[in-house]
Amino acid sequence: MENSQDRGGVGYWRNWLSFAGIGLLFVGFLSGGFLFAFELVSGQTTPYLGVLYLLFTVLIVAGFVLVPIGMIRTRRARKTGMHPGALSEYRFDLNLADHRYVALSFLVVGSLVVLLTGIGSYKSFQATESVAFCGQLCHEVMNPEWVRYNASPHARVRCAECHIGAGADWFVKSKLSGLRQVWAVAVNSFSRPIPTPIHDLRPARETCEECHWRRKFTGFKELVRAYSLSNEENSVHHMRMLIKIGGEQTTFLKGSGIHYHMLIANKVEYIPVDESRQEIAWVRVERGDGGVTEYRNQEFDLSDDELATRERRTMDCMDCHNRPAHQYPTPVLSVDRAIEEGQISRDIPYIKVQAVKALSTAYGGVDAAVVGIANAVRQYYQEEYPEFIGKRSAELTSAIRKIQEIYQQSIFPEMQADWSAYPDNIGHLDSPGCFRCHNEDMQAEETGHTIFTTCNKCHLILAQGDQIDQVNVNLEEGLAFVHPEDFETIEEFSLCSECHTGGSDVYE
Ligand code: HEC
Ligand code: HEC
Ligand code: HEC
Ligand code: HEC
Ligand code: HEC
Ligand code: HEC
Repeated sequence: MENSQDRGGVGYWRNWLSFAGIGLLFVGFLSGGFLFAFELVSGQTTPYLGVLYLLFTVLIVAGFVLVPIGMIRTRRARKTGMHPGALSEYRFDLNLADHRYVALSFLVVGSLVVLLTGIGSYKSFQATESVAFCGQLCHEVMNPEWVRYNASPHARVRCAECHIGAGADWFVKSKLSGLRQVWAVAVNSFSRPIPTPIHDLRPARETCEECHWRRKFTGFKELVRAYSLSNEENSVHHMRMLIKIGGEQTTFLKGSGIHYHMLIANKVEYIPVDESRQEIAWVRVERGDGGVTEYRNQEFDLSDDELATRERRTMDCMDCHNRPAHQYPTPVLSVDRAIEEGQISRDIPYIKVQAVKALSTAYGGVDAAVVGIANAVRQYYQEEYPEFIGKRSAELTSAIRKIQEIYQQSIFPEMQADWSAYPDNIGHLDSPGCFRCHNEDMQAEETGHTIFTTCNKCHLILAQGDQIDQVNVNLEEGLAFVHPEDFETIEEFSLCSECHTGGSDVYE
């Protein structure tokens, strides 16, 4: 029989270094295992769990390195006949009282480690899984999305539900991209603003449609807006309209309404020209009855070869609802709301224009903006309406406070995130939106037909102007739109966003 000294290396691991390595392996595998089990059982995850897995992987790798180093050292020590280290001389014998004591301590310490690792993994899991973690871990980077998310109709939907969804492949994909993001933050290499569209965002079918039913008949939605005009009185101009959202069932609504694009019976595909998909070169529709039409934008006029090399997308929810959880309201919209709610007094002359101008200026930082807004607005009134610096100063002070608050809630200079970086594709006033395809340049090859731009095919105006309580319209046609710039009616197409940008450009 060979003695333990020569058992082909079997005993080499018995040294403190290898022991420590085995301990690390144990904790690493155990924590990882626990975390994985929690994810599986709860069916929930976030990309940031990747950070934890990374940590456990480091432990495991360190363990794998330490064990052989210890073994090599022991082997060398034995070969050279030196004292191989106290550990290898132990014999374990439960008949000996102090060996029993050691065994018991091992058992207790071992169970404690298992227990603590379990609790630790569970706590970390809960932490990364929470919405606050996603939004606040990388405070600077995610702050804009976090603030806007909390003001959105989806403030109760967890980030992971839209950004990750369920299933093993996306689980792995999101882990990798989570790691990449953490790295980008660590080395400060992320872009400002974060570029959209997000290319590895999961298809709407597997996120939005887990909660929203695409065949649902949504009917009409009433939209009521109160604009404050740019005159001295900031006079109010209302717009009350029915948006024809529609859906599968079409008894009340001629055609199928706006949700036509994503109905199962129709397929709309398009090829964008730019990264942000704001300019579209080509559109193809395949209708339920088998009819197919291809439209090309005459303005870009790309050749077939050029088109073939570009991304071709099938339209889904996110092509219109691109801001379901992070909408950055425009200065015009925010100021209109604040005046309507009485938080900015309509009695301050030209306050609409002054507020929008103050919000459309670049300041380089939030603190500078807070000071800059107050200075700019005060200076204007000092020169033009000094009573607002004197006896009516309280009114102006509270208006300024509200303008500063709007800035802090919707404009994020450190990430360059605001309404102009992230246009909303619903509508067509401040960015092309629907008019990316519904315009005069997008024409069918043979016939020259355009995708319609007729105003009342998408919505019906019920009332507009200063009186909107009385509604008396033909529900087939609605009213013709009166443009509050010159109070003339507009019925033909014009690209609204050429003048309306959401900021103060419209007043120039
Ligand atoms: C209702 C679904 C939904 C929820 C909930 C949601 N997001 Fe988003 N998020 C989106 C969509 C859609 C986009 C835009 C995708 C595009 O344009 O490609 C987006 C974009 C983003 C972007 C890119 C920058 C930007 O502003 O567009 C970040 C960062 C982001 N989300 C983080 C978060 C965080 C953090 C949370 C939770 C606090 C969250 N999201 C919750 C749907 C959601
Ligand atoms: C986990 C479920 C869930 C997911 C996923 C989800 N939503 Fe929603 N969504 C809701 C709920 C709940 C509401 C109603 C909120 C309310 O009325 O306060 C809502 C409201 C909406 C509204 C109406 C908003 C308004 O102004 O009232 C739109 C549009 C919408 N969702 C689009 C989307 C899109 C697009 C996606 C995918 C990016 C999505 N949702 C993903 C649950 C979800
Ligand atoms: C062609 C653009 C377009 C597409 C594609 C689209 N929507 Fe909409 N959707 C709209 C418009 C426009 C409205 C009216 C919105 C408004 O005024 O806020 C709307 C309204 C809604 C509402 C709110 C209804 C309400 O009563 O407030 C929900 C929910 C919704 N859409 C879900 C979806 C889902 C889910 C998908 C994908 C399956 C989808 N939409 C695809 C344009 C679109
Ligand atoms: C990517 C291009 C594209 C975008 C963006 C787009 N549409 Fe369309 N839309 C189409 C095409 C193509 C058709 C079908 C035209 C045809 O039948 O030839 C269509 C048809 C429609 C219809 C007619 C439905 C029916 O019953 O006939 C409505 C309503 C509509 N769109 C509203 C909207 C609204 C509102 C938006 C913006 C929120 C929008 N569209 C954005 C391409 C687009
Ligand atoms: C392809 C569909 C479509 C066509 C064509 C269309 N609109 Fe719209 N429009 C919309 C949608 C969708 C909204 C709702 C945006 C929202 O919910 O914020 C809207 C909103 C509006 C608003 C309110 C804007 C705001 O945000 O305050 C006005 C005003 C308006 N449209 C006027 C017109 C006029 C005038 C025409 C004809 C020249 C026209 N629209 C053609 C889809 C369309
Ligand atoms: C040639 C430039 C131009 C175009 C194009 C244009 N507008 Fe305007 N619009 C203006 C100006 C300037 C005002 C400011 C009037 C004021 O506030 O006194 C205005 C005001 C408005 C208002 C009042 C609310 C506000 O923001 O002050 C609405 C609503 C509006 N326009 C809708 C539209 C729509 C819808 C279209 C496209 C169909 C459109 N406009 C196209 C220049 C334009």
